[in-house]
Amino acid sequence: MRQFEEGTTLDRFLLETTRDHPDASGQFITLFNQITLAAKLVSARVNRAGLAGMFGATGAMNIQGEYVQKMDIYANDTFKRALEHAGVIAMIVSEEEDEIIHVPPPFVPGHYVFCMDPLDGSSNIDTNASIGTIFCLFRRDAGPGYGEMTDVLRSGREIIAAGYIVYGAGTVLVLSTGLGVHAFTLDPTVGEFFLSHHDIKLAPAARTYSCNEAYAAQWDPALQAWLGALKEPSLGWSARYIGSLVGDFHRNLVKGGVFLYPPTQKARQGKLRLLYEAFPLAFLAEAAGGAASDGRGPILDRVAVSLHERTPLYIGNRENVEELVAALSRGRSAPS
Ligand code: AHG
Ligand code: MN
Ligand code: MN
Repeated sequence: MRQFEEGTTLDRFLLETTRDHPDASGQFITLFNQITLAAKLVSARVNRAGLAGMFGATGAMNIQGEYVQKMDIYANDTFKRALEHAGVIAMIVSEEEDEIIHVPPPFVPGHYVFCMDPLDGSSNIDTNASIGTIFCLFRRDAGPGYGEMTDVLRSGREIIAAGYIVYGAGTVLVLSTGLGVHAFTLDPTVGEFFLSHHDIKLAPAARTYSCNEAYAAQWDPALQAWLGALKEPSLGWSARYIGSLVGDFHRNLVKGGVFLYPPTQKARQGKLRLLYEAFPLAFLAEAAGGAASDGRGPILDRVAVSLHERTPLYIGNRENVEELVAALSRGRSAPS
């Protein structure tokens, strides 16, 4: 893997790594320039949310049946505006949009389909806890035109790049094109993202779990038993959960851990969305040597069947995910 010196900017990193992708077009770099512009704008607004009247809800409800926060809309509009005119995107799928957003004329569509959760962790906006933007990209080689649903309802194995921006104590952009996972930290004094974590790797196993245990009584009994067994003091496990998927995932990526959001009575398919939450993070987890499952098979083996479909998500260090999925499998085959 190509080595980079201290202080490498995201722009330089992308220029040099696109040389490792023979089919890379200039569009990829233009696309990431627009993503980082939107990320800087959202970061600045998040950092001043309390001063800019950006706390609280809009009063509207989105297709997810969730109350839309003002920051959800700001982030959604900022990424759309940054992307739609650049000639690199054919379509956008957003958690905040009922339907696919096609590039409006007179703008010219490009090669890529951009799937995003513009602001993940909305319930944490007013509490100053980490929130973020999650995205993944598909290429659309079906020639000119504005694209259709079949360009979006793809297998996770067709993702060509994925990433997130976590707006926390600092703003960190994490991305992968399949060749390792790398993180860039924003220096707001110069408005530039600098390489801060090169080639992040997940150890085979960790001893931190992340889940909302208030729902534990609603989970598969085999999962309850697996989690109960972890609490044997000699095993040395701890729990961390902040209720922002992007924040919980980033901590687990950097320090190790397994995140689980199983089906509940209220969310029988799980709460998290496949196309713009589970797919991107599963792509990153696997690129870092980890794993991501829906409880039956790898998340990336799934083929999306609708824009906002939900999925159970078990993601993190490979051995932990494999043990958890094996426990669920034994539970399914045990005599009822
Ligand atoms: P979003 O804010 O994009 O709707 O996502 C919220 C998700 C995810 O960030 C987090 O892991 C999960 O909701 C928390 O759900 P609970 O509050 O049910 O634990
Ligand atoms: Mn989300
Ligand atoms: Mn969201």
